[in-house]
Amino acid sequence: MLKLIKRCSEYVSGYREYCEEAFDNRVIYFRPTNPKLIDNEWFSRTKDWYDKKESGQIQGQPISFHFWAVDDEKFIGEFQLRTELTPEILSGIGSIGYAVRVSEQGKGYGTEILKQGLLIAKEHGMDKVLLNINEQNIVSVHVCEKLGGKLTDKIEAYNDAEGHHIMCRYWIYL
Ligand SMILES: CC(C)(COP(=O)(O)OP(=O)(O)OC[C@H]1O[C@@H](n2cnc3c(N)ncnc32)[C@H](O)[C@@H]1OP(=O)(O)O)[C@@H](O)C(=O)NCCC(=O)NCCS
Repeated sequence: MLKLIKRCSEYVSGYREYCEEAFDNRVIYFRPTNPKLIDNEWFSRTKDWYDKKESGQIQGQPISFHFWAVDDEKFIGEFQLRTELTPEILSGIGSIGYAVRVSEQGKGYGTEILKQGLLIAKEHGMDKVLLNINEQNIVSVHVCEKLGGKLTDKIEAYNDAEGHHIMCRYWIYL
């Protein structure tokens, strides 16, 4: 059964495999950590930074909560929640980031991650979340619409991984 859990040291090797799959397959819609950076000390080295992000103590970074998706022993993917609606979030990364490791896609995990993630958003007091999705990312568009996403508009956007693209802005009301 899929669960969203807080980052923890037991799943670091699974997280590294997930990142390797994303880099090897040139996933552009959601870039995880460069797997080359994930050595034996990576988790303890980064823990404080992630903890501080949750309370907004990292300057220039939005408050964000990072979850890992696991199914028993297996690392499946991740879910990120940003609880503020700053101008950067509205026209950039949106409230939610999520991904499934390439070898586990198409099995219903993405839908389940987003579904459980929406409950987490609600627990954080949010009444709506924004998903900003590249128009070409038809699988994510499909999953978002299936879970109630309402297309608000499409805007021109740019980031290093995706380049110039059209971004669909979807609200999901909780
Ligand atoms: C988006 C993502 C998380 C979906 O995960 P997943 O585990 O493959 O998703 P699911 O298996 O739950 O659902 C996939 C859905 O897309 C549908 N689908 C697959 N290929 C499709 C296509 N070419 N056109 C339309 N729908 C398609 C499937 O039929 C399924 O829908 P259904 O359950 O209604 O039949 C995954 O593709 C991913 O990690 N992509 C890279 C990162 C990313 O894009 N993150 C989102 C950024 S906004």
